[in-house]
Amino acid sequence: MSNEPTPARKAAPGREEEADQSEWDAIEELRRRRERSRAGGGEERIASQHEKEKMTAHERIEYLLDPGTFREIGPFAEHRCTEFGMDDKEFPGDAVVTGYGEIHERKMFVFAHDFTVLGGSVGEVVADKICRTMDQAVDAGVPVIGLNDSGGARIQEGVDSLGGFARLFKRNTDASGVVPQISCIMGPCAGGATYSPALTDFTFMVNETSHMMITGPDVIETVTGEQISMAELGGATTHTNKSGVAHSVYNNETDALDGIRRLLSYLPQNNMEDPPVLDSWDEPDRACDRLTEIVPTDAKKPYDMSDVVDEIVDDDSFFEVHEQFARSIIVGFARMDGQAVGIVANQPRAMAGTIDIDASAKAARFVRFCDTYNLPIVTLVDTPGFLPGTDQEHNGIIRHGAKLIYAYAEATVPLLTVIARKAYGGAYIVMGSKELGADRTYAWPTAELAVLGPKGAVNILYRKELAAAEDTDARRESLIDEYREEFANPYKPAERGYIDNVIEPQTTRRRLIDDLDLLDTKRGETHPKDHGNIPL
Ligand code: HXC
Repeated sequence: MSNEPTPARKAAPGREEEADQSEWDAIEELRRRRERSRAGGGEERIASQHEKEKMTAHERIEYLLDPGTFREIGPFAEHRCTEFGMDDKEFPGDAVVTGYGEIHERKMFVFAHDFTVLGGSVGEVVADKICRTMDQAVDAGVPVIGLNDSGGARIQEGVDSLGGFARLFKRNTDASGVVPQISCIMGPCAGGATYSPALTDFTFMVNETSHMMITGPDVIETVTGEQISMAELGGATTHTNKSGVAHSVYNNETDALDGIRRLLSYLPQNNMEDPPVLDSWDEPDRACDRLTEIVPTDAKKPYDMSDVVDEIVDDDSFFEVHEQFARSIIVGFARMDGQAVGIVANQPRAMAGTIDIDASAKAARFVRFCDTYNLPIVTLVDTPGFLPGTDQEHNGIIRHGAKLIYAYAEATVPLLTVIARKAYGGAYIVMGSKELGADRTYAWPTAELAVLGPKGAVNILYRKELAAAEDTDARRESLIDEYREEFANPYKPAERGYIDNVIEPQTTRRRLIDDLDLLDTKRGETHPKDHGNIPL
């Protein structure tokens, strides 16, 4: 049922008998029209939507928002197209439901494509409604959530649809960095329609029922002869694992909508606000005793960095995003004594924690998001360096790795860095080093900071000597030990001020919480400019 407020049925005093019947007829007419608008493309198409385990636009919005808070805007707006038999098609509200409501008692703007109306296609009026939603969200400083389920540009409306999309993209770009924009793909998302979610901050998908693609399998076969299924081409697994277009996949629509609610709980309403602070349910002084068990001292042994994150942050508060993509780096949100933070961490369990092209782009975008929305960043370092290889070099690891340097170097939010084990070469620099702007850098006693890993360094420094040695392997091992003694520990960098302190792992949580408290009032300064030129 509609959750619009209904007027109290009360006749004016003394007019009970002849309550203004025409007035009540008008209200009945309004209600009838509202019901018609809510019915979208009609019972048959709603049933078909349900058969595909998809909710209608109204059902999705009502599930997403706090109960009873949705206020619809534009339920009677109608398309103006007269071509291709459109003149006798009436769909009040057209193919999108727009409005605002609340999540965790905070205001949110929302739009949801209605696939039951002309396949949720975007014509002039649909674009107008979404643009108005976004304009109002930016004016009010309120996040925008888009629930996408659309066949893309409305074919019957020609260039009006294309222009509509262009207006949307402009709004997405203008709103970027002002209010959080979250997209959820809950059906098809084809052609240019994909670029609106791609311009937003986070994109979630629903497994099996959602697809994103610039051109579908038929066009691909016609143009290139390649045969590929819709799922393989643009399904949720493809976009969360391979392309990185989507940040998370959920098994069904309600889980995805719950995911949006959780994500928003870490974020401020806009770039002028601080993220919400919750009462902490975990002791700020808690010693992280498990850390010494989780992290092997042998620098070559892998472990799961997400266990380290879980041990340091408030209990059960870690919300990882982009989990399946570029797995050698972890990004996500967490709480430290109730305060929301962004976490960036190398993952030694995947590719030994090396930083490749995808890991650079993934982490850079996340760092920039945190910086825009005033989330302090905690960086946990254990990486042997950038991933070597022709493939990486030829595909631009230099350009992409530079994104991560740029993102940290321009960030003005509090930056706290903990070096757990390896921090070699460029990867030392890029992972929130002091020289890039970290406010606090800690190392555990197991940390190793050097230009190259011991073996690579020895092979270069002692090439001739090793070639001449009687027992090359034994000589190499002894040189590696010497190198490790000299460089691969945290004390030299601590002596020279590159790290602020060597700390016992158990104290990491307490230290970070103290620093966050201290840096709560940090005011980062940047030079005035239109915008920088990040290496894209
Ligand atoms: C108008 C559309 C439509 C569209 C679907 N419909 N897409 N109407 N314009 N773009 C209508 C169908 O005619 C149908 O109407 C109803 O929606 C449901 O569509 P079906 O095909 O029956 O549903 P399904 O089998 O689930 O397939 C969904 C679909 C398919 C995968 C989205 O409809 C499809 O491929 N549509 C076209 C996608 C596309 O190429 N869009 C343009 C991309 S180019 P009836 O009345 O029969 O129920 C683009 C350019 C933008 O977007 C550029 C911006 C820069």
